[in-house]
Amino acid sequence: MSRRRILGNGLMLSVSGLCASYGAIRAVNGLDIEVGEGRMIAVLGANGAGKSTTLRSIAGLHRPVTGSIRLDGEEISTLPLFKVVRRGLALVPEGRMVVAPLSVEENLMLSSYAGRGASSDLVERVFQLFPRLKERRTQTAGLLSGGEQQMLAIGRALMTQPRVLLLDEPSMGLAPAIVDLVFEAIVTLHRAGQSILLVEQNAEIALSVCDYAYLMKRGAIVSHGTVAEMRASSGVQDAYLGA
Ligand SMILES: Nc1ncnc2c1ncn2[C@@H]1O[C@H](COP(=O)(O)OP(=O)(O)OP(=O)(O)O)[C@@H](O)[C@H]1O
Ligand SMILES: [Mg+2]
Repeated sequence: MSRRRILGNGLMLSVSGLCASYGAIRAVNGLDIEVGEGRMIAVLGANGAGKSTTLRSIAGLHRPVTGSIRLDGEEISTLPLFKVVRRGLALVPEGRMVVAPLSVEENLMLSSYAGRGASSDLVERVFQLFPRLKERRTQTAGLLSGGEQQMLAIGRALMTQPRVLLLDEPSMGLAPAIVDLVFEAIVTLHRAGQSILLVEQNAEIALSVCDYAYLMKRGAIVSHGTVAEMRASSGVQDAYLGA
């Protein structure tokens, strides 16, 4: 039952035994995660649990010490970053990291060259998802609001046509109304069949949209389950749902 919730139409991303370090500091220690095709899978966890390191390792930005990362059956953990992006992984990083001096449109176009083939429809698709970005297409990205920068960061990742979209705390630092706007777009993408791995400290919002969730502590997964199972789990309730 649980496994069917993860798998959807089939296994798209499979991470096993992942270990990642910063010098002598082991940030991720033997982590296993699966994302099925078309599924939205959440990873919950407190500050410093290793969530960002996990996403950065999957995205090819941080070289793991050991472990396997398979995308649609292909081992990608040893590929250089540009190949990982071409294979179909795109990270929306913590803190958004838009290119401040470039316009909204230039940020999007720049990203499309890294992806699986540029196409003029892609920008229009991003603008359809985020009409605010269309209104601000010529504006300098650094002058956008935090919410608009988050939309641009997601749009930029979509320009590479990812098979799995990796989202690192998209709610961080945003006002509740803006969080709702951003998550409406994430849900729209999910409904359209996009596979998503979502990292969030905000368990309530993550559990309201995902198909299945993992709980991470000190670099490893300590529990996982369906939304109902995770809501009922004392570990998640105590730590994240204010119960
Ligand atoms: N560049 C770095 N150099 C050294 N240690 C780091 C570095 N980045 C992260 N760490 C350490 O690795 C561990 C995991 O950090 P990580 O950023 O992956 O956690 P996180 O779950 O994303 O936390 P947060 O919720 O605060 O974003 C932490 O102990 C952190 O201090
Ligand atoms: Mg983080």
